[in-house]
Amino acid sequence: MSASVLSPSGPLASVSGLLQVASLLSLVLLLIKAAQLYLHRQWLLKALQQFPCPPSHWLFGHSKEFQKNELQQVLKWVEKFPTASPRWFWGTKAIFVVYDPDYMKVVLGRSDPKAHGTYRLLAPWIGYGLLLLNGQPWFQHRRMLTPAFHYDILKPYVGFMADSVRVMLDKWQQLSGQNPRVEVFEYVSLMTLDSIMKSAFSHQGSVQTDRSSQSYIQAIEDIKNLFFSRVRNAFHQNDTVYSMTPSGRRYLRACQVAHEHTDQVIRQRKAHLQKEGELEKISKKRHLDFLDILLRARMENGDSLSDADLRAEVDTFMFEGHDTTASGISWILYALATHPEHQQRCREELQGLLGDGASLSWDHLDQMPYTTMCIKEALRLYPPVPGISRELSKPVTFPDGRSLPEGITVSLSIYGLHHNPNVWPNPEVFDPSRFAPGTARHSHAFLPFSGGSRNCIGKQFAMNEMKVAVALTLLHFKLAPDPSRVPVPNAKVVLMSANGIHLRLTKLQ
Ligand code: HEM
Ligand SMILES: *[C@@H]1O[C@H](CO)[C@@H](O)[C@H](O)[C@H]1NC(C)=O
Repeated sequence: MSASVLSPSGPLASVSGLLQVASLLSLVLLLIKAAQLYLHRQWLLKALQQFPCPPSHWLFGHSKEFQKNELQQVLKWVEKFPTASPRWFWGTKAIFVVYDPDYMKVVLGRSDPKAHGTYRLLAPWIGYGLLLLNGQPWFQHRRMLTPAFHYDILKPYVGFMADSVRVMLDKWQQLSGQNPRVEVFEYVSLMTLDSIMKSAFSHQGSVQTDRSSQSYIQAIEDIKNLFFSRVRNAFHQNDTVYSMTPSGRRYLRACQVAHEHTDQVIRQRKAHLQKEGELEKISKKRHLDFLDILLRARMENGDSLSDADLRAEVDTFMFEGHDTTASGISWILYALATHPEHQQRCREELQGLLGDGASLSWDHLDQMPYTTMCIKEALRLYPPVPGISRELSKPVTFPDGRSLPEGITVSLSIYGLHHNPNVWPNPEVFDPSRFAPGTARHSHAFLPFSGGSRNCIGKQFAMNEMKVAVALTLLHFKLAPDPSRVPVPNAKVVLMSANGIHLRLTKLQ
């Protein structure tokens, strides 16, 4: 008996034969995979050879350098390579990072698709809406949605924005003590979510006190953190593999929570429309909002938007419409808190224009030049979207003669551009006079909203909201930093702070 186990014969022999063939086959497959990876690495090395970068490990790339504080590291690289530099994530993944306005102009003037490897990781969350779509489908959606940002539509939104800001300021008024301390990002996120829900989705309800809004915002934060880690993990690229890891499962759960929020918005509206009957009747009663435009939209071929497309757009705008402005407003308030002289000058301008702010309206928004300069300077130092990327669909040659082949992933570092000493002298200094009317600068030196055909569709909405929030806040509070908790900028899809943004408030009047 023991002999037959040691030297199998009959059916066992054929099993062991099969096993041998199978292991030989896997060995061959493994070798083929290794050869592919090797060749891909050689191709990347050659493609990027005209562009120097700090030495990188053959397997770990530059991951060690970027481990501690990524944006701090970006600043060091910008000083050394002010135009662009390759960055290796691991042995077979490198991207080309751009910090230079001329290079930005070339890339944004083309129509390369969004970098698939990066943006696709956001698809389980925001789907293929305007942000992720490419080519003809993107073009159709962009054309369909552009009317939703016409100024006739944006005008009444100013009132909703002001209402949302007042709810937030009331919460701050009720905090005890003469100098309450607040982590502003948390409050501002709820406020901007409230504002986009009221304006784009005509939602009625108290978003800023709802439990469900808080769980939506928490889910978004989880998603952003998990996305950040996934991009940097070679083993988490494959969707099937990722979905079996603890992070992958957490990611999908967080997406589910986010979708519950947006599904509810769609469900409520559809139910409401059924009650009212015709869609057209609705638009006469209240402002025509983003969701109406989506529901009424007929694509070129006459079909209405599929449920999946609708959901993707609602998820995209729910996120883009609140998280970016939350980042923007929080960092602007921080910038003003750390520069009391500019803060006071804004306040005087705003008091002269608005009194106590009770009648703030659309017409006021272009009458606050100094405040606008400060907002822009804060967007330069703290761009809410710190970087975007594209995948070259054809070779490119830059004005200095250097070139890249098709297939390279190009990352446009907006943060790097805005902190580039070749573009902005003394880049770390907050100096609103850089944006004084009539000051000349390169067309692509300041790109908080990106540029070209795929620029931010919500730019005007965002500028309005930031002005309303800054104006009303400065009229009611004096802001100071919390010296024991200096924020650490952190690029998590949008610009966050690793330790929150803590301010000390002084109630005015
Ligand atoms: C301060 C606030 C904001 C900043 C800094 C910002 C910045 C940007 C940037 C840099 C892009 C280009 C993304 C890329 O190339 O991958 C973009 C695109 C986009 N933004 Fe914004 N955004 C802001 C607010 C908003 C708001 C309020 C909305 C909606 C109400 C919005 C909706 C979008 C959409 C849908 C796109 C994709 C446009 C397209 O590809 O056609 N954004 N934004
Ligand atoms: C991901 O992994 C699964 C299982 O290992 C495999 O079947 C699939 O082909 C992989 N997908 C990609 C896109 O590589």
